Parts: sequence; C-alpha cells; structure tokens
Amino acid sequence: MNARYLLALALAAAAAVAACGSPDSSQLGNGEDNGDGTGTGTGTGTGTGKGTGTGTGTGTGTGTGTGTGTTPGTLPTASKAGKAYFIATVAPILEAKCAGCHTPGGPGNPSWMAKADAAATYDLVYLNAYATAASRIVIKGVHSGGNAPELSADEKSKWAQWISLEVADGGQKAQVNVLEKFGTCFDKTKFDAIQLGTLRTIRRQQGNNPQNLTENANNCTGCDNAPCRTCHSADDVTGFVNAIGNNILPPDYTFEQTKLLNPAYIRQYVSTTPTGEPQFNPGIMTKSTNTVTVAKAYSHPMFKITPTMQTAIQAFVDDAIAKQKTGTCGK
Ligand code: HEC
Ligand code: HEC
Repeated sequence: MNARYLLALALAAAAAVAACGSPDSSQLGNGEDNGDGTGTGTGTGTGTGKGTGTGTGTGTGTGTGTGTGTTPGTLPTASKAGKAYFIATVAPILEAKCAGCHTPGGPGNPSWMAKADAAATYDLVYLNAYATAASRIVIKGVHSGGNAPELSADEKSKWAQWISLEVADGGQKAQVNVLEKFGTCFDKTKFDAIQLGTLRTIRRQQGNNPQNLTENANNCTGCDNAPCRTCHSADDVTGFVNAIGNNILPPDYTFEQTKLLNPAYIRQYVSTTPTGEPQFNPGIMTKSTNTVTVAKAYSHPMFKITPTMQTAIQAFVDDAIAKQKTGTCGK
C-alpha cells in the first residue's frame, strides 16, 4: 500500500474537518467529583477491598483486597507497589482528564474507567489491555473533535514509572484483550450485507432534524450527500473506517481494517464487558443518533442508520461472538 497516498488522504480529511467549524470545549469534564467516593469492593471470593478518598481530588485509596472475585476493583494484582502508585499518582490524572467521558454512560468508547474508584480503574485498565508502556492511553492524542485532551509529557512519564513498577514485580497480569484477536471471528459476507458503502451524509436543513439546524452546502465540506470515505478512508484519529467506494485502496480494505484494535476501529462494533468478554457495541448508531439529536451545525455531518442496517450490523457482530464462544474463529 502506498503510505504517501494514505497520508495525503489523512491530511485531506483533517483539512476537511477543520473546515467544518471549530470544536467546542464546553463538554470537557472538570473533574469535580474527584476522589470523593469511598469504594468498597467485594468479590465473589474472599476478598474485600476498601478505598478512601478526600474531597480535594487527591484521593489515596488503600486497597487491601486479595479476593478472587471478577469484579473490577477486586482482582488480584502482581504488584502491590505498582497498584499503590497507580492509585496515588496515575488515577488522579486520568480522573481529571479522561473520566468525564470514559466512565459508564459517558461518550468515550470504550468505558475503561470507573468514576472516582481508582482501584476499579486499575483493573479496567488491565482488562482493556492498556497496562503497557506504549499504551493507547499514552499514544492517544487530542480526540473527540478536540474535546478530549492528550496526556502531558510529565503525565506520560508518570505512566511510564507506573509500568516499570508493575514489570519489576514479576510483570503484568494477563495482558490479552479478547478484542486483539476478535477480528478473526468476522464474516466477510455478513459484513458486506451491512452495505456501509451506501451511507451518505445529510445536510442539516429545517425540518430534517429535530434541532432544526441549517447548513449551507458551500460552507461545509462533506456534509451534503457525501460518502463516508470522504473522511474515513485512512484517518485513524477518527476512530472509524469506511473507505468503501475508494477505488485506490484494495477492495477488502475496509473489512480488514475494521478488525483492528490499534487503531481501534473494531470498537465501533464490539466492546468488552467489565469482566473482559466481547459484547455488541452500537458505535455507529450511537454516532448517528448524536449527529441527529445533539451535534451542532458544521460539526460532524449528520447521517442516519436505517433499522435494516442496524439489524445487519448486529447480526454481523452476534455471529462473531457466537464463533468466539465456540472457538471457531478463523476456521
Ligand atoms: C470529551 C470526551 C472525551 C474525553 C475527555 C476523553 N476521551 Fe478518549 N474517547 C472519546 C471518544 C468519543 C472516543 C471514541 C472515538 C475515538 O476513538 O476517538 C474515545 C476513545 C478513546 C480511546 C480508544 C480508542 C483508541 O484510539 O484506542 C482511548 C485509548 C482514549 N479515548 C483515551 C483517552 C484518554 C487517555 C483521555 C484522557 C487523557 C481521554 N481519552 C479523554 C472521548 C473522550
Ligand atoms: C467531513 C468529514 C467527515 C465525514 C464526511 C464523515 N465523518 Fe465521521 N468522523 C469525522 C471525524 C473528524 C471524526 C472524529 C471526531 C468526531 O467524533 O466527530 C468522525 C468520527 C466518526 C465516528 C466515530 C465516533 C466515535 O465517537 O467513536 C463514526 C462512527 C463516524 N464518524 C461515522 C461516520 C459515517 C457513518 C459517515 C458517513 C455517513 C461519516 N462519519 C462521515 C469526520 C467525518
């Protein structure tokens, strides 16, 4: 594949987005709820974990859990020192900068944190296979249309310090995220049946959206009946790939790229449960609903997913989960 061409595409997409209005930073979490929780974790085993925080956002939990439960916050750790450092130093950073979106119910996909519960976040970071030096957590730059920040250099070095503590104590816990191999469960026929190539953006006009927003086609790149490939051919910062109809890329490009966890294109279709099992994730539908009911004019273009398409997406994912359960992926 011609890397220069991909880069050109990516740059074109970035420019197109820049043309679509400035990002709104008003949704940024402000970390108000920092550390005011008192978590008690009890696993199904014998463990009890207890964390106490102060209201100033510098919570210092003292996890003493040694249970064998499967609830995040109660999983065993290989490194008591690593866990203590994470809770005291790393978690407050993530709580302030990332928890506004990456806790259950938030717009961040996946949900890899537990709000104001550093011990549970510690386990969730492991369950999402993020506990590595070159983690997506440190690699991930500014995202979510500019509303999500990047970790600072100092914060990244604290993350590195944490990982080195984990490694020094006999290494990390099982670092296999089920989604790393999950793409081998995908069925090409079922993927093609979704017909992602038929999707088009819809220019917002009076009457075609509940907010009654209006967009002028001349001011807005890609908002008026554009195929998704205009911006989603090879731009991994968008978190979604749909290059169908782009004749320069190989015909199975979109299908193959959709299998990837890194960049995390696969997450538009499947996420993990709190205990690390794959589950259907209606990522494209969630984005569609957002563009119809919440997004502003000139932000992400509006698009609508029909019930038929949503059914096909779910069938595609359900089939893969069934194969994963029976161990028949890639066979
Ligand atoms: C304003 C909401 C928001 C905030 C704040 C936020 N994120 Fe996100 N994040 C998202 C959304 C939306 C997605 C899914 C789309 C995407 O991948 O860009 C996402 C996806 C991710 C992913 C998974 C996709 C991938 O590329 O692997 C990671 C990792 C991530 N964010 C890290 C972070 C980190 C680290 C922070 C804090 C420094 C953070 N996010 C703060 C909204 C947010
Ligand atoms: C003008 C460029 C542009 C076009 C056209 C476009 N997108 Fe996007 N899309 C983006 C950008 C930039 C992002 C990342 C920032 C954001 O979430 O708004 C994104 C993000 C997404 C996401 C991931 C959001 C998340 O939170 O994980 C989905 C899903 C998506 N787009 C679907 C579509 C579909 C489907 C189409 C075609 C109907 C489409 N987009 C057309 C620019 C575009």
